[in-house]
Amino acid sequence: MATAKTKTVWFCSHCGNEYTKWMGRCPACGEWNTMVEQEVVTGKKTGTMAVPGASRKPMPLKDVSATQEDRVSLGSAEVDRLLGGGIVKGSLVLMGGEPGIGKSTLSLQLPLHRPELKTLYVTGEESVKQVKMRADRLGGDASNCLIYSETDMGAILAEAEEVAPDLMIVDSVQTMYCQQVDSTAGSVSQIKEVAAQLLRFAKSSGIPVILIGHITKEGTIAGPKILEHIVDVVLQFEGENRGAYRVLRSIKNRFGSTSELAVFEMTGSGLREVANPSEMLIPMHEEGLSGTAIAAMLDGNRPFLFEVQALVSSAVYGTAQRSATGFDVRRLNMLLAVLERRAGFKLGQKDVFLNMAGGLRITDPACDLAVICAVLSSNFDYAIPADVCFAGEVGLSGEIRPVSQAARRATEAARVGFKRIFVSSYTHFDVKPQGIEVVKVADIPALVRALFK
Ligand code: TYD
Ligand code: MG
Repeated sequence: MATAKTKTVWFCSHCGNEYTKWMGRCPACGEWNTMVEQEVVTGKKTGTMAVPGASRKPMPLKDVSATQEDRVSLGSAEVDRLLGGGIVKGSLVLMGGEPGIGKSTLSLQLPLHRPELKTLYVTGEESVKQVKMRADRLGGDASNCLIYSETDMGAILAEAEEVAPDLMIVDSVQTMYCQQVDSTAGSVSQIKEVAAQLLRFAKSSGIPVILIGHITKEGTIAGPKILEHIVDVVLQFEGENRGAYRVLRSIKNRFGSTSELAVFEMTGSGLREVANPSEMLIPMHEEGLSGTAIAAMLDGNRPFLFEVQALVSSAVYGTAQRSATGFDVRRLNMLLAVLERRAGFKLGQKDVFLNMAGGLRITDPACDLAVICAVLSSNFDYAIPADVCFAGEVGLSGEIRPVSQAARRATEAARVGFKRIFVSSYTHFDVKPQGIEVVKVADIPALVRALFK
């Protein structure tokens, strides 16, 4: 057996790749200034990863039985849906998010509201007393929930094997450590090893594990990013800490679809599920306010409506500012350039601020049309009627392009009380939407004529 040796290596805190020397830019992921120095012990065996149920020999694919994964309901309709119908037995789920966003709250709330599941809640961050105080706030039934304050993975896994819970929660990956690895808790090599050990435990025992991980806005703390390819599922909390709404998004799921999202509201007694996001995302849409437009969106498979807010004002300093919250600023710049070149709006000397209501991060291109309309509405100081919404992508020549599943978007808009939806002229409806007038526009000038006449 090789003897243990210590060597210094460099890790990219963004993608987790390992290098023998420092580099300004990580060749693997292309990020700058992400290298962190770390001492690792080589020669010690930390085990290999084996997936149980995996055959030792190659076998014809046609002989592999494809039964449904065994799933356990977590008692929350929204979280179950996000996971693809409950948590898969033996899976490792990473729940990431900024500090204070509600990861501990949600992960404790789940077992309290589903006492049928024997749960082992391992906390490395809070004392047992603190967890108890939180549990009292959350209500529910704590009789089948075991709290364990520990950070040593060896002790945790031994205890977990003994207890054999139906669900294990580990809060958080940054506070746990493995004795085999010679660096401090929270370092890249510890985080990787903690996750690898939990994955091995989950796979061999069949117990589903929820692992909590902190991330910062800049993503500078080593953690969830480098774990994404180890774990089975990544759920990520988004939202503004100041606001009451939190969005939980599935960004990776080996057993279901991604880009699904669930909305929660932080209340005095924990997180409340918001089953219909349309109603919460347009909370105070008043008649007569310029600079807002409603987009008919699709998240994963569910249509909902939400508000885009823009503020256009004369640039105070020489160069105009562009800022976007929850929306890609490059996409905003492109849309502004299209408005300037193809439709003659002089926005060059204007500051433009864009905000997606509710702290949501939007990637659906169907949102373009609402962004353009919110910008124009603010620029003209003209309020878009409150019963109008939009679904269209904007192309570089100013054309408005059709979006997927237009009929479902229009139907949802009609259901929550919208009277008119603006879409591309080329939109194809598989079923004709009922109870809402469809306004088809081919390009930006046509849109302006139809809307701001
Ligand atoms: P927490 O779940 O500890 O966040 P994380 O584990 O992601 O760091 O806390 C979320 C915030 O929510 C915290 O500032 C306190 C607040 N909170 C409530 O408003 N209501 C509640 O019932 C609880 C438990 C927390
Ligand atoms: Mg916490």
